[in-house]
Amino acid sequence: MNDTAPLPPRELLDRWDDQQAAYVAHREPRFQAMLDVLGLRLPETFTALDLACGPGSLADRVLRAFPHAQVTAVDYDPLLLRLAGDVLTEHGERASVLETDLVRTDWTAPLAGRTFDAVLSSTALHWLSPSDLLRVYTDLAGLLAPGAVLLNADHLRFGPGDETLGSLSADHDRRVQRAAFASGADTWDDWYALAAGQPGMAPLAAERERRFAERPPQPPAPLHFHLSALRTAGFTEVGTVWQYLDDYVVFARR
Ligand SMILES: C[S@@+](CC[C@H](N)C(=O)[O-])C[C@H]1O[C@@H](n2cnc3c(N)ncnc32)[C@H](O)[C@@H]1O
Repeated sequence: MNDTAPLPPRELLDRWDDQQAAYVAHREPRFQAMLDVLGLRLPETFTALDLACGPGSLADRVLRAFPHAQVTAVDYDPLLLRLAGDVLTEHGERASVLETDLVRTDWTAPLAGRTFDAVLSSTALHWLSPSDLLRVYTDLAGLLAPGAVLLNADHLRFGPGDETLGSLSADHDRRVQRAAFASGADTWDDWYALAAGQPGMAPLAAERERRFAERPPQPPAPLHFHLSALRTAGFTEVGTVWQYLDDYVVFARR
């Protein structure tokens, strides 16, 4: 990609959304399912945590859909955090953006003093090892009051015994990516290069490389692992509220 002119944050976020939609076939309906649950379950005024928020796609959608909601968005990528801060500033004091590394056992420290009615995450927790995931779910159960909800949207890959479903999902992913890139969506690498080329972003991109250098892809944690881990962590009701092939929105009530 040879874009040289600086892009406004909102445009960079739109390009991120198009890029992510190449990897997540029905990303908008998946977001909508999460918003529907929030609207049905919570009062007009609520607080939410966007876990591994990236540049703020989900936080932004929540703040737009619910004018009285407050969202705390956390991530560990300094470039994405900068962009999230720039985009979410439109929502004033209803949005805050904080840095934390979910791999650290003290990752909740920056959240001290905050309470949440909902924890949300999209396309992110697959970065965690199954043991880190159980720990993070357990920490979240400790942060949430009874009745609060967790919604985790992610690809939860099919494992042994589900070969046909696994290959249908992989074929569908390839087809969606081919179509999206043919119609002009950035690849993840293209988008990151574009973002790193924006004024002031190069040092943040370099720091991101350093932070994530030793973090290889994790073994897949299938749906049944998430459901069991959430129950073990202390959530009382767990299930799914949306599914397309191997892409889900997992629901849990504290
Ligand atoms: C594919 S992006 C998804 C971002 C956003 N939730 C979305 O749906 O557009 C995955 C995100 O997980 C974040 N992430 C990965 N490992 C993390 C960790 N250990 N702590 C915090 N964030 C992490 C990455 O920095 C990235 O922003």
